[in-house]
Amino acid sequence: MNRRDFLDRGWKAGFVMIGAAGMWTSWDMLRPLPGSGLGGVVKTVAPSEVPSDSPVYIRAAKSYLTRIDDEIVALWQRCPHLGCRVPWCESSGEFQCPCHGSRFNRAGEVRSGPSPRGLDRFAVTVVDEVVEVDTGMITEGFPLGTPETIDEPVQGAGCR
Ligand code: FES
Repeated sequence: MNRRDFLDRGWKAGFVMIGAAGMWTSWDMLRPLPGSGLGGVVKTVAPSEVPSDSPVYIRAAKSYLTRIDDEIVALWQRCPHLGCRVPWCESSGEFQCPCHGSRFNRAGEVRSGPSPRGLDRFAVTVVDEVVEVDTGMITEGFPLGTPETIDEPVQGAGCR
């Protein structure tokens, strides 16, 4: 092999390695991480740890677990209006969006404000006595004007 062929093969091998490293880095950055963040299944708490009168916040799933009758529902913390994080307000017993004032009952159903629908929901399953939230399976909340499915009036002052 002469010097020209050696350098030609060296350059080609270098480009192949750089391309492979770039592809690997892109894949590593973009792939969904199982068990964390949106898009994956998040193991949370035992069903018995979800009370019947207030939600439990699950940071890893960006959602609240709330019990409606005997069913556990996972509500996405993202406001359907413009996407602000909606916190639970203990004093009023509602979710209240700090951005434009939408209010949602404990089931995530919209009561007032500019939100066009209730909080979106993630699919929930119970596996081996652990509530698993599938953040890749989203169901839109009920549209504004849908009658509330739970009878829980506002309990007190709001949090804004
Ligand atoms: S973002 Fe929640 S009411 Fe506007």
